[in-house]
Amino acid sequence: MIPKVRKAVFPAAGLGTRFLPATKAMPKEMLPLVDKPLIQYGVEEAIHSGMNNIIIVTGRGKSAIEDHFDVSFELEQMLEARQKKDLLASVRSVSDLIDVFYVRQKEALGLGHAVLRAKEMVANEAFSVVLSDDVIDAEIPCLRQLHDIYEFYGCSVLALMEVPPENISAYGVVDAEPVAHNGGSGRLYRIRNMVEKPNAADAPSNLAIIGRYILTPEIFHSVESIEPGRGGEIQLTDALKHLLRTRPVYGYKFEGTRYDAGDKLGFLKATVEFAMKRHDLGEPFREYLRSIQI
Ligand code: G1P
Repeated sequence: MIPKVRKAVFPAAGLGTRFLPATKAMPKEMLPLVDKPLIQYGVEEAIHSGMNNIIIVTGRGKSAIEDHFDVSFELEQMLEARQKKDLLASVRSVSDLIDVFYVRQKEALGLGHAVLRAKEMVANEAFSVVLSDDVIDAEIPCLRQLHDIYEFYGCSVLALMEVPPENISAYGVVDAEPVAHNGGSGRLYRIRNMVEKPNAADAPSNLAIIGRYILTPEIFHSVESIEPGRGGEIQLTDALKHLLRTRPVYGYKFEGTRYDAGDKLGFLKATVEFAMKRHDLGEPFREYLRSIQI
């Protein structure tokens, strides 16, 4: 039997230049979507997918992330004294649920390099990778959808999404053939090749890699074997392409809505959608939106 994936790696050492000046002194992973930092959405998705062992790859200036997932005695005492039970529960739930481990990526040398930093902590088991810029709203958590495929095939699985040609150069793009699965839901692909951020004209398809991966531990050897690629960085896409030589890699067009919260417009869209879905804010927020002249 294929053992369940328990560990989730969160690369979080990037500089967040797309959000300057907000990210000058604050990690981009801590930007709040309504009232929770971006990274917490990803961490909750991992937990809801059975992965309680969280490994965050951080860098300089990222200590706010560690504080966020730590116990805050002063804050808890104050909320307790003021009888703010709901707030206390929400603050505690962040630190209670999970074990978080941290590892430093001293230089931002690329996504593949960030994942490699987690090698010792992951050891010899399959693990997931979550890019917290990609916020995914789904009935079944995206990582769980990928995990279901992993449990069946025992191979690495990447989240895929169709992207219009004008945006394709922002992604890793796959060349893939459909695979019948579960009576043929049309969502599963076996990957033949992939390329990191191609020009639209060279893109092998409209299927982009989105920031959720289940990886088998051979990926570490692949990361160690490749040369820097696009932008002079060690790319995870290139490592996956290397892995393809020896192991099948699958892609799954997940069910759900993905927001690129690392981009200003994407972040605004996610904020509006998440606010509208909130039971405490949805109604007054909708009312406000209806009242403004657009
Ligand atoms: C990374 C990956 C890319 C993937 C994307 C998804 O790029 O390198 O393959 O398509 O995440 O969000 P980044 O957006 O970090 O430049």
